[in-house]
Amino acid sequence: MKKILITGALGQIGSELSVEFSRRYGADNVVVSDVNSEGAKLAPGNAYEVLDVTDAAALEAIVKRHNVDTIVHLAAILSAKGEQNPDLAWKINIDGLLNVMRISMSMKLDRLMVPSSIAVFGPTSVLYDSPQETILKPNTMYGVTKVIGELLADYYYKKSGLDMRGIRYPGVISYRTLPGGGTTDYAVEIFYEALRSGRYTCPLSSDACLPMIYMPDTVRATAELLEADPDAIKVHGGYNVGAMSFTPAQIAAEIKKYIPSFEIEYAPDFRREIARYWPASVDDSAARAQWGWKEEWNLENMTRDMLVNVAAKLGIDFKL
Ligand code: NAD
Ligand code: SER
Repeated sequence: MKKILITGALGQIGSELSVEFSRRYGADNVVVSDVNSEGAKLAPGNAYEVLDVTDAAALEAIVKRHNVDTIVHLAAILSAKGEQNPDLAWKINIDGLLNVMRISMSMKLDRLMVPSSIAVFGPTSVLYDSPQETILKPNTMYGVTKVIGELLADYYYKKSGLDMRGIRYPGVISYRTLPGGGTTDYAVEIFYEALRSGRYTCPLSSDACLPMIYMPDTVRATAELLEADPDAIKVHGGYNVGAMSFTPAQIAAEIKKYIPSFEIEYAPDFRREIARYWPASVDDSAARAQWGWKEEWNLENMTRDMLVNVAAKLGIDFKL
């Protein structure tokens, strides 16, 4: 793992992962790329490449030019956007993924990390403490592409030995870059609206309990899995990783502790149907046993940190 290429690096996760990877491995050793070029330099010293992952020739040229031996493939269309444009979700999440997998194999790369998601679960899955191995028949195009990604990871690992790794990320909460069109985005938006207007209209129902993770835990989990000893890794598609689980009503109550006048109302839309068949919590014992996963952030300390940082970002005078 000497030279890492990150695709989709300007998104919610990539914009923070790039900075943390540059800190851990040296900015010279992290090449960041995205289909967009806005805000391209994420960490001082990073090389930046404009890359559409559906363009296999461009991807191959970048891998060669920078002597890349590890790819962290973040470019994707998320669940809500994917339901609005399923063809686009297929094109980016499957055609793009196949390009990355094929080039990783043909150029004999050392390691390939492809995130999966809690969206792999569906109406016939066990939705409380969802097991690592269970029925995966999602009812969203995004979920379908993530299950295919996991199956391909297993297939190519066995066929070619490509060292593939992945996490079924829960909903990711952060304040630096806004989320890019997922069902769990509400758990970020609620902080902005609580601070700006003291009111939030939630697109999910009040009791939609979902697994979530704060960004510092997300980037640490990603680095720890990427660095883990290959012999310890028994799951190549996507590890369940849990950190916290809450409903919209519970996060609203937590925010209310610090903004007593805060009000939430509910106007569920199509995202309620997506959330309905995602787990309330996941069994992440495999991640804990095999590469030492342990969360540091829960609903309480994440809420305090988000309020302080979102307020600072918005220039709002706020004290806990
Ligand atoms: P995001 O939507 O914030 O960012 C995705 C990035 O991909 C964007 O910067 C976008 O410009 C880029 N992109 C889109 N099409 C592209 C293309 N053709 N070529 C290159 N880049 C392209 O997503 P994210 O939240 O950072 O998610 C990263 C990964 O993590 C995805 O695989 C996603 O499915 C997974 N994931 C995220 C969450 C979450 O809550 N954020 C949860 C589970 C899984
Ligand atoms: N947070 C993501 C979404 O809501 C889950 O993969 O789409």
